[in-house]
Amino acid sequence: MNGRLLRGLAASGVLVVGSLALAQSSRSDKTKETPLIHSIEGPELYKAYCASCHGADAKSDGPTAKSLKVKPSDLTRIAARNGGTFPLMRIERIISGEELPQSGHGTNKMPVWGPIFSQVGRDQDLGRVRIDNLARYLRDIQMP
Ligand code: HEC
Repeated sequence: MNGRLLRGLAASGVLVVGSLALAQSSRSDKTKETPLIHSIEGPELYKAYCASCHGADAKSDGPTAKSLKVKPSDLTRIAARNGGTFPLMRIERIISGEELPQSGHGTNKMPVWGPIFSQVGRDQDLGRVRIDNLARYLRDIQMP
């Protein structure tokens, strides 16, 4: 192998490693940037983490909604869109990031909350409790 080729390979290796590190750090930074609020109650969590996009009334006219390409779903009509039943488990998986919302747009612009809610606060990982409380809160605010 000649020297130039070797140098080229080495340089591209550095580039790949560098951009991987960048992707990694920006992802973990997002989790760190989003601190946990003290409350684990659904309505409080909703106000703190969801209302900016989905709106205070969950009808998806929050201040951030306008700048998004995919309009956030109206969260008061989940049951109505689902034949009258609220799909609690599916909604929990969408919030945690285990499942993608079915918007038909093909892009998932809904943030992944699992890692954020599973940060250890007060020595406990209450991530699942937070997600469950949020999903139950959404179930409580369904409209016909
Ligand atoms: C950055 C804006 C943004 C924030 C903040 C946000 N969402 Fe979303 N959400 C979206 C968008 C956009 C969609 C639609 C995505 C799609 O269809 O691909 C969506 C979809 C959803 C869906 C799917 C609804 C359905 O009928 O399929 C649920 C449930 C949901 N969000 C709950 C939440 C909860 C709970 C929070 C707070 C923990 C939250 N969202 C915070 C943007 C946001």
